[in-house]
Amino acid sequence: MNKKSGETENNIREDRTVRIGLIGAGNRGIKVLSYLLVIDRVEIVAICDEVRSSAEKAAKMCADSGRKMPSVYGGEKDSVSEILDNVNLNAVIITTYWDSHAAIALHAMHNGIYPGIDVPAALSVEDLWQLVETSEKTGVPCMMLENWSFRKDNLAVLNMKRLGMFGEIVHCHCAHSHNCIDHWFFDSATGEPKWQAEYLVKYNRSQYPTHAVGPVISWMDINRGDIFTEIYTITSAPVGINTYFREKFGENHPNVKVKYRQGDIVTSLLSTKMGRTLVINNDLQLPRPYANRWMLQGTRGVYDEEKNAIYLADFSPEYQKWEPWQPYEEKYNHRWWQTEFPSPSIRGADFIMLKQFIDAVRKKDSVPLDVYDSAVMSAIVELSGISAEKKMPVPFPDFTRGKWKTNQPYFAG
Ligand SMILES: NC(=O)c1ccc[n+]([C@@H]2O[C@H](COP(=O)([O-])OP(=O)(O)OC[C@H]3O[C@@H](n4cnc5c(N)ncnc54)[C@H](O)[C@@H]3O)[C@@H](O)[C@H]2O)c1
Repeated sequence: MNKKSGETENNIREDRTVRIGLIGAGNRGIKVLSYLLVIDRVEIVAICDEVRSSAEKAAKMCADSGRKMPSVYGGEKDSVSEILDNVNLNAVIITTYWDSHAAIALHAMHNGIYPGIDVPAALSVEDLWQLVETSEKTGVPCMMLENWSFRKDNLAVLNMKRLGMFGEIVHCHCAHSHNCIDHWFFDSATGEPKWQAEYLVKYNRSQYPTHAVGPVISWMDINRGDIFTEIYTITSAPVGINTYFREKFGENHPNVKVKYRQGDIVTSLLSTKMGRTLVINNDLQLPRPYANRWMLQGTRGVYDEEKNAIYLADFSPEYQKWEPWQPYEEKYNHRWWQTEFPSPSIRGADFIMLKQFIDAVRKKDSVPLDVYDSAVMSAIVELSGISAEKKMPVPFPDFTRGKWKTNQPYFAG
């Protein structure tokens, strides 16, 4: 799509090499890079990080793996513009801090470059509308890289839902319950805040909802037959972070006294036009094992990820008794998972997601999670905060502007 590539619509070849730029060579950027380096016909052309040494390290990783050495950008105010304006790219992967995602993606689309944005796509509804409008105006697809939509279990549930095995979908539940205080928000050894920690001081909201809600929007046909209408969010008191610092570092650690606005457990209730409901829990700051607690209830049965169990009125052998989920996951395995992975260390969902994104770029096709889906998932961040503050439900925007009524389900179709 890059106008500088010199390609015309007539010489798009399905076997062409996809030229990728990576912006943000931190934890996630490096991980994403390790998957890109095992996908065929991908060239990492340029890497940019505001800390130049991080971009250099990532570039060396490409060379060490036998690929061409990418050009390195960084350390300058205009590094991101440099890479987007002057390098011949087909797509850019954006794994930077949250507040820069939207601006980089907009810039990329204006230059005909597919943006693959890590989560969330943007932090405000206003920026999300800009992504939608720019993607529509430029014709450049824009995808948020929500990896949990591509998990084996979630895709098998989607296959079964589409076969009608759950009947009509009535209600779903999902969560992102992941204690990130001791590694992602703060340095684990010193308790020094990282960039993410400022959000815990400034906001009280569902900071990271997309991993939870990603698979659910496809189960519920959001943007394709149904749409969220309202969100109501309540949060428990902010107790966890100060307690963590007091217990781990002692009463004198500065973070014991910091006033964090972020409540410990965030619960959002969403309603849909077709009368369905969804509960999303987001908790990132209490000690607990990781959990997503996906649950889907239809008129003919229920799937419960945490129980690792399913009950289907038309299929389960015993009346109203759970049966194990695993055989269903194998039987209804999605075609994306019926593939050889390059190595056991390449985690499936990330690899599949990036491969699908790259294939779409290569074919100049639509992306698996489009700009409307990316916007719906990300809008929960700001809307949950507004609702929690007002202590009342707030309307959910229709990013499709009515097209949800005729749009057909497409994800993983
Ligand atoms: N999908 C997943 O499973 C997953 C997991 C972890 C993080 N993430 C997402 O990845 C993103 C990055 O998180 P992280 O944990 O890698 O953070 P990080 O701090 O480790 O890395 C971010 C990198 O981006 C660079 N950077 C920031 N703003 C920049 C800008 N404007 N221009 C150039 N470089 C810039 C920083 O210097 C840093 O190297 C976040 O959006 C996060 O939500 C996703």
